[in-house]
Formats: sequence, structure tokens, C-alpha cells
Amino acid sequence: MISTVTMKWDGKALELIDQRKLPQTEEYVRCTTSDCVAAAIKDMVVRGAPAIGAAAAFGYVIGAMENSKNLTEERMNAIKGKLAKTRPTAVNLFWALDRMHSKFISLKGKPDFMIDKLNQEAEKIAVEDIEVNKKMGEYGQTLLSNDATVITHCNAGALATVDYGTALGMIHAAVDHGKHLSAYVDETRPYLQGARLTAWELMKLGVKTTLICDNMAGWVMKTKKIDAVIVGADRIAANGDVANKIGTYSLALLAKRHNVKFYVVAPLSTIDVKIKSGLEIPIEERAHDEVTSIRGVKIAPENVGVYNPAFDVTDSDLIDAIITERGMLTYPYETKIANIVKGGAVH
Ligand code: MRU
Repeated sequence: MISTVTMKWDGKALELIDQRKLPQTEEYVRCTTSDCVAAAIKDMVVRGAPAIGAAAAFGYVIGAMENSKNLTEERMNAIKGKLAKTRPTAVNLFWALDRMHSKFISLKGKPDFMIDKLNQEAEKIAVEDIEVNKKMGEYGQTLLSNDATVITHCNAGALATVDYGTALGMIHAAVDHGKHLSAYVDETRPYLQGARLTAWELMKLGVKTTLICDNMAGWVMKTKKIDAVIVGADRIAANGDVANKIGTYSLALLAKRHNVKFYVVAPLSTIDVKIKSGLEIPIEERAHDEVTSIRGVKIAPENVGVYNPAFDVTDSDLIDAIITERGMLTYPYETKIANIVKGGAVH
């Protein structure tokens, strides 16, 4: 059983808060088929790297239940493939599916309790996500003074995870320590995760929240006292380059210029050591109408050319610290990342 605002799982069905409708409407989509879970990930009902991973793990369990009469490796490969092709950038999706599939392979020949065990593994992924976020929050909050003002981008909050959040988890932990934080929230065009989701979550946490358009961040850094930019990540390469929501790279450049600290908060499941540098990370391109329209209202001439990459890559030398559940890493990252993913100490 998992029950958070982002997702609810009762062992049979996965309910996902429909993030496309927030903050105006709090409505859940109930999935009892793996097709439904795959569509929910693809269509952004659920989004954010760790949340996508956990949803896919539950989708895998539902896929196993659909095939319970003939639970072959071939069928589970097909379920895994269907869930994996929903979104390309956030590595947590593939990490969670690989973990579920390894569990399936390790249980082959023991079909009686296969579904129970897969269910337990998916719930473990979800529970661990919350624990890990709280640990990162604790480490991260030590970097923030009592009255820090931060900028955040996209949504790396409870909604982007099973619960608590990564970047917003750090803010949450600071608030729990009695700190009085203020946050500027980038609206995050074109999908407006900042305006719709992050502003909603931060206000609920009692953080003084100011919404800005993305192109205002430089001026805000120049004219206000900003202590840090805090973001999440969708995939971190072996050298510490970070793929995150489009606009993150520009923020990092602006932060460098204005001597503002730039922090990335992400679990180890977001690190992909198979990818040497950020340029190898697949970047999702999304529909043109996300750019030519705002919430269904056309704002651009018919047939204008459009480029809509959903993510960008921030070079590791622009990042002051990557905060993980095992501690904080600082630039240069390559050796430290290689060490931490093998279970070694954090230096
Ligand atoms: O396209 P989205 O909304 O799934 O993108 C989400 C982000 O870029 C988040 O910043 C990232 O997944 C980190 S969430 C903890």
C-alpha cells in the first residue's frame, strides 16, 4: 500500500494525481492496466524523474497481473518495453524497470509468489524514494541560511517524486528546521511546471513564494539577494553533467555570472554512469503546440517553425554541489561519482 498526494497503490490499481490539471483541479486517474500507466507517463499525468520511475514499477506489476496465466519472460519484456518507450530522458524510468525485470528474472521458476514479490519490489522502490528524498533534504538544508532566498526551476517537489521531493525536499527540510526561506519560482515555459506545481507546493509549505517568468531570472539575480539556485535532475552523466528541465542550463550560467550557488539535488538512481558526458543524454523533443499555445490558446502564427526540447544539459563545472542520499559531491565529479555509485565513501 502506498498513499501519497502523487500516487496511491492498493496492490491492484495505481491512482495518479492528474498533474495536467493542477493546481485548479485535484483529480486522480485510476489505472488498472499497464497500457493506462504507460499512457499516463507519456501524457504527463505523472511527471518528474523519480515519480515516473515508481509509476513504471507499479505498471510493471500490473503488467505481470495481466499475464498471470502465462507469465513468460517474453511477455514481461514486452511490458517493460512498452513502459520504457514513454519518455526518453529521465533515467529513473529505466532504472526502475531494470530493477523490476531483474527481480522477475531472479524469480523465474517460482511463479506462485511471483506477483507478490514484484508487488513488494515496486512498493520498496516507492518507499525508498521517500526515504532518500528526506536524507537529501537533511544534507541539503545545511547549505541554506536561516533567511535564504532561492530560485528553483520546473518542479522537483513531492509531485515529481513519490513524496517529499528532491530540490523542494531540501527547502522542505530547511522549513522543518525553522528556517524562513523565500523562493522565486521560474514559471518554466512551455509546460509551466513551476507556475502550476512548484508555486502550489511551496505555498502549502509556507514558503514566501514569488512567481517569475523564466526570462526574469537574470535580473532577479542582479537586483535581489539570491543565495542559491536549487534544481532536481533527470539524468546525471558519469562526469557530473546534469540533464534537467529546459532552462536549467541558462540558470546555471546566470548563477555563475552573479556568484549565486548552484545546487542539484538528485538520488543515486538518477546517475547513469554508462553515459560519459551530458552530450550523450537523449533529450526529449515535445509537441510544437506546447510552444505555439498556452493552455489551449494559440499565441503564434500558423505554421511557424518550432523547436521544443524538454530538457537541457548543464555542464558539471557550473554546479557547486550535487546532493545525494549518501552526501554531497563537489566539482570535479567524475572520480567521486564513480566511487559513490560503487558504494564507496563520499569525499
Ligand atoms: O518534463 P518533466 O516535468 O517530467 O520534467 C521534470 C524535471 O525536469 C524535474 O526537474 C526532474 O525530473 C527532477 S524531479 C525530482
